[in-house]
Amino acid sequence: MTAFPLEPIEKTSIDELRALQLKRLKATLQHAYDNSPVYRAKFDAAGVHPQDCKSLADLANFPFTTKKDLRDNYPYGMFAVPRQQCARIHASSGTTGKPTVVGYTKNDLHTWAHVVARSIRAAGARPGDLVHVSYGYGLFTGGLGAHYGAEKLGLTVVPFGGGQTERQVQLITDFKPDIIMVTPSYMLAIAEEFERQGLQPDKSSLRLGIFGAEPWTNDMRRNIEARMGIDAVDIYGLSEVMGPGVASECWETKDGPTIWEDHFYPEIIHPETGAPLSDGEMGELVFTSLSKEALPIIRYRTRDLTRLLPGTARTMRRMEKITGRSDDMMIVRGVNVFPTQIEELILKRPELSAHYQCVLSRSGSMDDLRVLVETQPGVSPMGLEAKAAAQQLQRDIKAYVGTNVQVELRASGGVERSVGKAKRVVDLRQV
Ligand code: DLL
Repeated sequence: MTAFPLEPIEKTSIDELRALQLKRLKATLQHAYDNSPVYRAKFDAAGVHPQDCKSLADLANFPFTTKKDLRDNYPYGMFAVPRQQCARIHASSGTTGKPTVVGYTKNDLHTWAHVVARSIRAAGARPGDLVHVSYGYGLFTGGLGAHYGAEKLGLTVVPFGGGQTERQVQLITDFKPDIIMVTPSYMLAIAEEFERQGLQPDKSSLRLGIFGAEPWTNDMRRNIEARMGIDAVDIYGLSEVMGPGVASECWETKDGPTIWEDHFYPEIIHPETGAPLSDGEMGELVFTSLSKEALPIIRYRTRDLTRLLPGTARTMRRMEKITGRSDDMMIVRGVNVFPTQIEELILKRPELSAHYQCVLSRSGSMDDLRVLVETQPGVSPMGLEAKAAAQQLQRDIKAYVGTNVQVELRASGGVERSVGKAKRVVDLRQV
């Protein structure tokens, strides 16, 4: 069977793409100003009007939107349509404070399913494929977002959701899916369950995994690909901007998610000053929606750190695989540390597994970082081999990240598992 054909916009010229973006940007700014009192007040306070936007660069004069804006206007205060015109509501889990609530009109749901369908196709789906969805269903955008995109592409969907790991393995074995959509950390838990049941995960029917919702490194990609015998591609998104499918990797290049720029306009800014940075420079990713109705989002600060790269498999720009969120950055004795930096170094040691957690605590005025990491099944954490690996990891972290940490080995199963996003940082300093 031949692959699904590309949409013309994916290969259009840069000039045509920019013209479409400008047209949609002007309409979005006007829509936000006319229909959302919160945006109107923000624009007025900044002394800007939608008509001041004559070029894409003019967007930089408009104010940012943050999670706090959404929380302050909880639940529907930023919507630009009456709630009655929303076909669906999603919300962030909101572990602290109020959740952030997002709404979608029927058209928004079509757009979303469309970009997710495009993402799944870019990831290498083929007509007739069966997709097993293990992202959580419910208020989280992962499950339903993946689901409607896969349906729109014409694939068969198994809406499993997160959890019940034993049953996940049973249904993957029985239903024989071609594609799995799941967080990379939960993929590892499923791989482990295969092994626990005496099955070889690389012999399953799966050909392709579409992984996202949390940072994961290229080393983790190689690890999952080898263990599962699949291609692993990256899908990115966030609920405030839409959900999964804001950007997605093309299987033929696997060089960072392509941003679906006809619907989401990216910028990179300096995380402290907010100044716009050029393509190629590292900073905080900011998105403006170009076609959303219910909740237009203007210059939303994602807190994700990356840089913009030129298009390869498509005309649209890519983002470098996310190294971390500014929220996840740990400052240990004056050194900035991201969990992904630790992950990369762990995965270089064959005795260690990809299950790890960073625990921050304070002794006196000093911050301490402990890295809890499991040994591979069959490797005893008490053995000489494992202890040598832990010492080497400690040295590597000192050499490459620049900080002293304590590595603590755990036997297989000794580090907390999640069924969705993994919790990589545990901060005991405020407790
Ligand atoms: O995680 C949407 C999603 C679901 C994306 C399924 C991909 C797959 P939120 O819960 O709002 O939405 O969390 C958004 O998760 O700002 C990033 O920090 C992180 N994130 C999402 N995808 C990736 C990725 C969904 N591919 C937040 N790589 C974002 C790294 C990611 N981080």
